[in-house]
Amino acid sequence: MTTVDLPLLPLGRGQDLSAERGVECPGDLPPASDPDLVARARAAKEALGDRVFVLGHHYQRDEVIQFADVTGDSYKLARDAAARPEAEYIVFCGVHFMAESADILTAPGQKVVLPDLAAGCSMADMARLAQVEDAWDAMADAGIADQVVPVTYMNSSADIKAFCGKHGGAVCTSSNADVALEWAFAQKPDAKVLFLPDQHLGRNTAVLKMGYSLEDCVVWNPLKPNGGLSAEELRDAKMILWKGHCSVHGRFSADVVDSLRAEIPEVKVLVHPECTHDVVLKADLVGSTEFIIKTVEAAPPGSVWAIGTELNLVKRLAAAHPEQRIVFLDKTVCYCSTMNRIDLPHLVWALESLVEGTVVNQIEVDPETEKWAKVALDRMLALPGKSHRD
Ligand code: 13P
Ligand code: SF4
Repeated sequence: MTTVDLPLLPLGRGQDLSAERGVECPGDLPPASDPDLVARARAAKEALGDRVFVLGHHYQRDEVIQFADVTGDSYKLARDAAARPEAEYIVFCGVHFMAESADILTAPGQKVVLPDLAAGCSMADMARLAQVEDAWDAMADAGIADQVVPVTYMNSSADIKAFCGKHGGAVCTSSNADVALEWAFAQKPDAKVLFLPDQHLGRNTAVLKMGYSLEDCVVWNPLKPNGGLSAEELRDAKMILWKGHCSVHGRFSADVVDSLRAEIPEVKVLVHPECTHDVVLKADLVGSTEFIIKTVEAAPPGSVWAIGTELNLVKRLAAAHPEQRIVFLDKTVCYCSTMNRIDLPHLVWALESLVEGTVVNQIEVDPETEKWAKVALDRMLALPGKSHRD
């Protein structure tokens, strides 16, 4: 068996927006060295019983995922959060945009807790509402605003989701981006899609799953006047891709795919659609974290995989499937540092605080934003199933 035997070095990726989010430093956070952390987490969960429901994204650390009542990709977790109206507290072991979506989809009395408020997402931070509003104005000036349907990846802040809800658009995840794009293109005659904030998921889905060409796609750069595009380029495009990306998945390279194939000819390359287009073009299979897990689970013993997604998940798959050979599609470590912010001391602190009757790090979306973001999320949840092309 080949495991991804790499040192546990958190990389400095993802912006730490803790100061911006008004994070208070929890004084009574247990030290990471506390040998009783596992027992304390177990005891706090038991004390809370059905009052708490713990959700864990697949990129979470092992020490945290062991306490999740359910694990999943962001699509599954959004559905799971909405399906637990009896839980008073939803403890979200994931990142900020996921906890916001859970708050939007849960009942008003339910409280969503993110154990560390610094668990953000650098991709979500690449699209700010004021920038998106400027882009929309430029599209109006180019005479195309009536044709444009905004679709945002789940990995975006609640106000971007609300913008999409208000302007006739929807949310999508990596599990259903093609179904969401089909829906969007069917909304208007001669429709165009503004896809936020991940240019790679947008391009990979439009070109590889929907049959659009690279020439149908343009990239809106929010840091340039008019997005760096002329009115004519906007008018000619079918897909207007926001210039955002995931700094974790952006590390995988086509060169490494080539060298792995030369080294291990039987290897199958399995990647997340947040990878760049040249990597996805060279892969055998592409899909969400849930798809990656199901693919490995269904594979026969002796299968050889090179997996291009976050390292906590790849390591867990390698440990769970010693009958297969699983290698990581990068030469160096590649954790999502913001996902990794949720560690056992923060989880224990959040759970023990709830036992004491104190709700710490509650994620609350304001009512107006929530109303419109829910419109966009509900449009996604009403789409016909997950991707039918995976
Ligand atoms: P999924 O779990 O939806 O595949 O997304 C991956 C991701 O990057 C979440 O932040
Ligand atoms: Fe964001 Fe990338 Fe981390 Fe996912 S893996 S939370 S997209 S930075």
